[in-house]
Amino acid sequence: MAGNITLTMIKPDAVKKNYIGPILKMINEAGFRIVAMKYTKLSKEKAGEFYAVHKERSFYGELVDFMSSGPIVAAILEKENAVEDFRKLIGATDPSKADEGTIRKLYAASIGENAVHGSDSDENAAIEGDFHFSKLERF
Ligand code: CMP
Repeated sequence: MAGNITLTMIKPDAVKKNYIGPILKMINEAGFRIVAMKYTKLSKEKAGEFYAVHKERSFYGELVDFMSSGPIVAAILEKENAVEDFRKLIGATDPSKADEGTIRKLYAASIGENAVHGSDSDENAAIEGDFHFSKLERF
């Protein structure tokens, strides 16, 4: 059965370009409820931990440097079928391959600086939610 939460991060590129508002508006209009949210900055160590699954990939160092380069917005979002529906809303990892009207098509510059993160499974949504938020920070 599909789970009802996903974890997103509005990445440093989108924050720098003042896209927090427009991205949250799209998330809101797509019917997601905000369970938890924070404006924060990942250290290199924490960014490396978050993306540890990609440790062996050629882009890992670049990814860690980028994700710790500036503030992000992290949020747990709730909706029926949250993981899949959110991935549809954000579009393909590579913005040049993302569908029209998706967040990455509208706001991302490249595969590395791709504006937003979205969990890829219910299991990872739970792990990533726990990475950023305690129980007391969820409503
Ligand atoms: P995200 O959905 O946050 O999950 C892993 C991230 O790795 C992905 O978005 C991209 O930003 C990044 N990524 C994936 N492939 C590449 C690549 N070929 N070059 C640089 N970064 C990548």
